[in-house]
Amino acid sequence: MTSRKLPARVVEEISAMDSFRSKVMQRRIERELDVLNEKLGMLYGDSGETTQVLDELLVQAIQFASVRPSDLWALDLKREQETDWHLQRKTVGYCAYVDKFAGSLGGIEQRIHHLQCLGVGYLHLLPFLKPGSPPNDGGFAVADFEQVDPSLGSNQDLVVLTRKLRDAGISLCADFVLNHVSNEHDWAKRARSGDTSYHGYFHFLDSQSQVDEYEATLGQVFPDTAPGNFAYLPDMHKWVWSTFYPYQWDLNYTNPRVLLGMGKSLLTLANLGVESFRLDSTGYLWKKKGTSCINLSEAHWILQIYRSLTNIACPGVLLKAEAIMPTKELPPYFGSNDMAGRECHLAYHSSLMSAAWVALSEEKAEVVEMVLDNTSELPKCGGWMTYVRCHDDIGWNVLRPELEGRGLDANKRLLAAAMFYEGAVDSSYADGKAFQVSVPGKVHGTNGMASALAGLSRARTAEDLGLAISRLHLLYAVSLFVGGIPLIYMGDEYGLLNEEWDAQHMDRGIDGRQIQRPAWNEDKASRIWMKGSTEEQIFTGIKKLIVARKKQLHHSTRLSTIQTGAKQVLAIQSGDSQLGVFNFSCQPVSVHLEGWRRNLNGLNLQDIVHDQLVADEIVLKPYGFMWLGVQA
Ligand code: GLC
Repeated sequence: MTSRKLPARVVEEISAMDSFRSKVMQRRIERELDVLNEKLGMLYGDSGETTQVLDELLVQAIQFASVRPSDLWALDLKREQETDWHLQRKTVGYCAYVDKFAGSLGGIEQRIHHLQCLGVGYLHLLPFLKPGSPPNDGGFAVADFEQVDPSLGSNQDLVVLTRKLRDAGISLCADFVLNHVSNEHDWAKRARSGDTSYHGYFHFLDSQSQVDEYEATLGQVFPDTAPGNFAYLPDMHKWVWSTFYPYQWDLNYTNPRVLLGMGKSLLTLANLGVESFRLDSTGYLWKKKGTSCINLSEAHWILQIYRSLTNIACPGVLLKAEAIMPTKELPPYFGSNDMAGRECHLAYHSSLMSAAWVALSEEKAEVVEMVLDNTSELPKCGGWMTYVRCHDDIGWNVLRPELEGRGLDANKRLLAAAMFYEGAVDSSYADGKAFQVSVPGKVHGTNGMASALAGLSRARTAEDLGLAISRLHLLYAVSLFVGGIPLIYMGDEYGLLNEEWDAQHMDRGIDGRQIQRPAWNEDKASRIWMKGSTEEQIFTGIKKLIVARKKQLHHSTRLSTIQTGAKQVLAIQSGDSQLGVFNFSCQPVSVHLEGWRRNLNGLNLQDIVHDQLVADEIVLKPYGFMWLGVQA
């Protein structure tokens, strides 16, 4: 499609706005029009229908912008002036399930004080939209994208909460499951009940042989509990594409109605005050026979279209890619080449997370180094979402390319790490559980809360306990050093352990990931104020890092690793003058910094966390670390 003038309908919509808003909208649309034109053309071809889609998308953006509350408009305008606002604030994030954290959306207010004590500026609440009936993948099978789950509150509660959070300096992030819907979603129900105009919203296949043709090149996300990528629907005599659970139907983005419909829901939530969207399963949005149907270029174009849409209707809103993919596949989610910086603002660095756990089990930094060496520089406003643990398993297979690329036996290394965290080897201190590995010798994932994996639940002596706490702090130190927005997973800040696995969870579906989804524990949480308690030690250590990060760390989109000569030590350079050194072993180790220091023109080196000058040789305690910078 070639660039063109705005259609009459769009001009009409703009001129219906007040004169200030209409001027701003015109400017925003002019800025985004070429990208929208081009990407829609690449997805849907150069036809009258595509032109129609563009018009509808623009009209949608204008209509949502015209009813967008004025406080959100003001925020948009401010953030348009400062496009890297989310990185320069050195924000720290927090992630929790609404029910586990506070019972309901309304209940979150009582946790704001805790979040503020920690220094959190970004709150990711796991799915809170109306889900399909249980099991619903912890809410990731959404039945209505425009309605809050009635068991957690109402849309009005969401509006109230986002305002309260904003007043407290906290942006709310919501999941937006772009790839699939619950089989109880209106589109799915209509398609199933025989309304053929909705068949094109999904991928229906007519025969087992068609299924087999696709399956030949597809992977599997839940090989044990949801094998295959298609669910048979006896009433329709068809198979429906369902990458995850059979009740999660993948959307068909070759149908522009899907693109438009999901866009509408996204803008609806943005107008309720959601400031950031975690775009779930972004890698799977486009399917092509004979491929893995992961990370295809079209998936990126879809995200770029949504970025343009939000740039027009709500530019203060952040898009975050959840693509649990090998390292090399991650930077493209920020946009590549001429689209650099025009896709997502943030993306999870899932391989860094997995690699850090491998390094801890191996007591050597090699795998993290490989991952960071494969991590390209990000565009100016891009930032990594780093994390230690989340509600999902630790997926080991994302690390295969790094290991295989160096001719190493990936299966052996990853299996060893997985077994270590399941506590299946004598030297292990961890209390995790294998995930989706019914086939012996196969590597998939590991479940468990960070504290349990770091040795807290199995600690028998004061020394064990001290080491477990140090491991937890070490992993958080890496995350808080590297991250554009590092995330704390609810409870990690006070050592919350695994949820007991028992029958009461059956109603949510048998899913081993439940063990890292425990409820908030008020007793334990209150002990963060009890000097010397385990909880206080964990909390204080993490808090100290957050304070140091805000005060002294500078965000950089460029990371590199430095060789120190000690294989247990990870040394990460961030920008020109910051170095994080992390000892992954249980032995103290000394590190010489002369080589690195030479680049600093004789400036003094400072331990940022403890505010002390350091000499050329530093000694790191077992699992110790330092963040170094030049003296201010
Ligand atoms: C994401 C979520 C995960 C969910 C999956 C399917 O990966 O983090 O919990 O099962 O998407 O929606």
